[in-house]
Amino acid sequence: MGDSKYAKESLTITTKVVLPHETNTLGKLFGGALLAWMDEIAAVSAHRHSKQVVVTVSVNHVSFYVPIDLGEIVTLEAKVSRAFGSSMEVIIDVSIEDRKTGEKKESNQAIYTFVAVDKSGSTVKVPAIIPETEEEKSRYDAALRRRQLSLILGGKIKPSEATELKALFE
Ligand SMILES: CC(C)(COP(=O)(O)OP(=O)(O)OC[C@H]1O[C@@H](n2cnc3c(N)ncnc32)[C@H](O)[C@@H]1OP(=O)(O)O)[C@@H](O)C(=O)NCCC(=O)NCCS
Repeated sequence: MGDSKYAKESLTITTKVVLPHETNTLGKLFGGALLAWMDEIAAVSAHRHSKQVVVTVSVNHVSFYVPIDLGEIVTLEAKVSRAFGSSMEVIIDVSIEDRKTGEKKESNQAIYTFVAVDKSGSTVKVPAIIPETEEEKSRYDAALRRRQLSLILGGKIKPSEATELKALFE
């Protein structure tokens, strides 16, 4: 497939335990601590795909479905959903683990965009993504619309240029 790589090649997984300095007075994980964990793992995933230095250009979406308690075991999984020119969308799925049964429950999701840069900070082209599973394919398709929305909000394109995003409302 030429200069393309499978989405699974960027899969990055890490497990954390929530420590006292990462919690608020109710003993729940700070949102900011989770954002930092997600940024770090997503950057590693974008690096695995591009093999370049990557910088966060946009945090497109973050959901906090359930509070995460002190001592909880938290697993973060990040994978590049789509690459464009120099930019890559990375989706991070976060789950918490029942300490008795080991059963995992989805707690958060976030979507970050990274750009590959060289030593002088100039953008570098990255390989395209080949999605394989149904989930990878649907995330790949939706990534184009999310990119257009993010670029509109970032003042980079006009709404009239967001063809695929506009088609959702027609
Ligand atoms: C990221 C950076 C290198 C981009 O430089 P730039 O001159 O704006 O470059 P461009 O406008 O060509 O954008 C580069 C890519 O980012 C994408 N991009 C820019 N803004 C975006 C946004 N808000 N959402 C999604 N993608 C965005 C562009 O579409 C382009 O993607 P493509 O190459 O795949 O088509 C530059 O803005 C930068 O260094 N930002 C700071 C990054 C940083 O330090 N992050 C950590 C924050 S503490």
